[in-house]
Amino acid sequence: MMFASTHIPVLLKETIEALAVQPGGRYIDCTLGGGGHAAAIIEHSSPAGPLLGIDADPEAIKISQARLQTCSNSTFLINENFVNLQAICIKYDFLPVHVILFDLGLSSLQLNSKRGFSFQHEAPLDMRVSPNQEVTAADIVNTYSESELAQLIKKYSEESHSRMIAHRIVQERPLKTSLQLARLIEQTIGRRGKIHPATRTFQALRIAVNQELEHLEAALKQAINLLGFEGRLVVISYHSLEDRIVKQLTQQESKDCICPPGTPTCICGHTACLRLINKKVITPSLAEVQLNPRSRSAKLRAAEHISTQAQDEKYETIEKLCFSVGVETGGWRNPTLLKKLRLAFSAA
Ligand SMILES: C[S@@+](CC[C@H](N)C(=O)[O-])C[C@H]1O[C@@H](n2cnc3c(N)ncnc32)[C@H](O)[C@@H]1O
Repeated sequence: MMFASTHIPVLLKETIEALAVQPGGRYIDCTLGGGGHAAAIIEHSSPAGPLLGIDADPEAIKISQARLQTCSNSTFLINENFVNLQAICIKYDFLPVHVILFDLGLSSLQLNSKRGFSFQHEAPLDMRVSPNQEVTAADIVNTYSESELAQLIKKYSEESHSRMIAHRIVQERPLKTSLQLARLIEQTIGRRGKIHPATRTFQALRIAVNQELEHLEAALKQAINLLGFEGRLVVISYHSLEDRIVKQLTQQESKDCICPPGTPTCICGHTACLRLINKKVITPSLAEVQLNPRSRSAKLRAAEHISTQAQDEKYETIEKLCFSVGVETGGWRNPTLLKKLRLAFSAA
């Protein structure tokens, strides 16, 4: 319960506005966390359209179940990784979708937990969002070669002292806890400015353990595919590597031609399927940052789906498939049909 009262949803008003939440509709919160954004979506969509909430962390599902129990009739909470978004939507008959939200990163509960995400609390070096994942931060720190570690830290955090840190880790390992690693980094590169010297390395390890960037890119592509006409996609990111993926993909999908600059005539045949809602990224106000310092790095981007021939054809294919086996949408749970639908989606 502590989590629900301590995790403050970031950019809440801006998110609800960008999602254009209205009564009815089908909503997906891909990063349920403490259910803060989900609760607001349900409130604004009253009488509620169904909400599908996803989180890879079973603890987040438990907390959201308690928080959203009054609307349990129209709320489906699923302990899954959002990288499986498309398969989840098909499995739960949740198509087409009107709104998809990603509020990336970690919740306050996770940061304060004994799972090694924070360099401020003593905990085993774990950093897995889901206990079902195999690789922990300790596995990486204690088994990667020095050059692999240096590359990983550089790639996922743009830390300029990555080589020094990797060298010291290899000298001092095995490392077991978050504070052991944090102190080692502080001794290696010293303290400068306000940011703790271990911030970047912890970010890099967390991204690697949870394959955050790969999963984000794959899930965003699926989300764009799943949105119905005028459906909205909103993504809140917390570091530049995430934001770059969101920015590049949404900008690319809002253009009719993505040929390299200088190409005399279009050869890509690409057509825009998104309209950017905010040309400039939305960031929290000073008042929000003062109230909730964890919001300071948040960036919100939003886009609206515009119909494309490819999408119309995809839904026609689905309708035909449903019709061919004589079922309404409920029949999508039929295993044979599901298999066909998955094929149709992967081909679309
Ligand atoms: C910042 S919190 C979301 C907070 C939420 N919006 C709220 O208002 O309470 C991010 C959540 O995303 C979840 N998450 C991160 N990566 C995920 C993934 N690949 N699949 C599913 N959930 C993920 C985390 O477990 C965490 O609970």
